[in-house]
Amino acid sequence: MRIQTATFVKSSSKLSQCPPPVKPEFAFIGRSNVGKSSLINLLVGQRTLAKISSRPGKTQTMNHFEVNGAWYLVDLPGYGFASVSQATRAAWSKMMENYFLKRENLACVFVLVDCRIEPQQSDLEFINWLGGNNVPMTLVFTKTDKLKNNQLTQSILRFKKELLKVWDELPPFVLSSIKTKKGKVEILGVIEEAMKR
Ligand code: GTP
Ligand code: MG
Repeated sequence: MRIQTATFVKSSSKLSQCPPPVKPEFAFIGRSNVGKSSLINLLVGQRTLAKISSRPGKTQTMNHFEVNGAWYLVDLPGYGFASVSQATRAAWSKMMENYFLKRENLACVFVLVDCRIEPQQSDLEFINWLGGNNVPMTLVFTKTDKLKNNQLTQSILRFKKELLKVWDELPPFVLSSIKTKKGKVEILGVIEEAMKR
């Protein structure tokens, strides 16, 4: 799929503030610092559309971007960031629960997982929760430029093994890197397919 235009629409801190649910929407979620905003920029071919930071917790609201005037990408605030207060964590859960369960135009959620670290409870819990609520998802293993091929294979196997303790069938997955641009074509392909449905 070719990206012709990609523009920022708005930031929302609750579901009712999100743009009208009239165009298919693709959301990016995962632990803080996993690379959600970076991946959105890679997909649209712009360096600064979504704001990036080496400090976790950069994205705090739901940020909608409109692509080709036809669909939305949503950059969501990350979870699992240790130095966040109980109150902030509770507000995040409430905002996200509402979003994932009630956003009518949500076509697919891309759940990003850092390929370098061992399976994290926060990732597994979140994926299991989405799956339990039948929210369509694709996993994206990010930062693959940081691992050698055999380490990457091991890491992904380990993660799949954890999920297979709970599920008989695994969601589709993609490998990504903003350095090598790996995964861009595949993710845009997932989006294109989902829009045909
Ligand atoms: P929050 O908004 O804080 O939840 O983080 P985020 O998931 O949006 O992460 P962000 O895109 O801001 O990236 C975090 C850091 O990881 C930045 O320093 C990026 O440059 C780096 N990063 C993201 N993707 C990759 C990748 O594929 N490879 C490498 N080497 N670094 C990456
Ligand atoms: Mg971000």
